[in-house]
Amino acid sequence: MSLSGLFRSAVSHSVRQIRYVQRTAQCAGGSGAASFVHRDSPENNQDTPFDFTPENYKVAEILKMPAMRVYEVATFYTMFNRKPVGKYHIQICTTTPCMLRNSDAIVKCIKEKLGIAVGETTSDKLFTITEVECLGACVNAPMVQINDNYYEDLTPKDMEEIIDELKAGKIPKPGPRSGRFSCEPAGGLTSLLEPPKGPGFGLQPGL
Ligand code: FES
Repeated sequence: MSLSGLFRSAVSHSVRQIRYVQRTAQCAGGSGAASFVHRDSPENNQDTPFDFTPENYKVAEILKMPAMRVYEVATFYTMFNRKPVGKYHIQICTTTPCMLRNSDAIVKCIKEKLGIAVGETTSDKLFTITEVECLGACVNAPMVQINDNYYEDLTPKDMEEIIDELKAGKIPKPGPRSGRFSCEPAGGLTSLLEPPKGPGFGLQPGL
């Protein structure tokens, strides 16, 4: 075989080895609450004034440490907001269990409904979207956290209704939207089907 034939054969062999993988929605790479690195922004840079309240000074220890150490912590945990967020902070989980339950459709729905991208805040300062890792409610995937409330078992229609209620100044009922209680089996209960009997049930009289 000629050298070029050998080359073509090697290329075609390697092409057959390629495995295509499904990718979930990408986290916003730019500035914003969803960015996992620090980038100076108008609201958050070395000249941004900051001070603890007098109450904080009474109880807090002020640590002398390099700013990088602080940024390492602040950029790792999504609970630290390094720029102002809207009145309703929508945190959408896109980790594997939620992704397998189509969290991509929920991300798309929120973005289209609000007209902003992940990491951005609406111009009326009502909503901010942040993409986060597992929020510990995988059994009710897909789900979002809005401020302190979890909304679970979501469909895009549920998500639209939740946003509409928030826009109307109401707080939607938290929890699963599928009708199931908490994280009980989606297909219905398979055990504990009767109210539990009291202590001592089944014991012989006198024992
Ligand atoms: S993966 Fe979404 S809550 Fe755990």
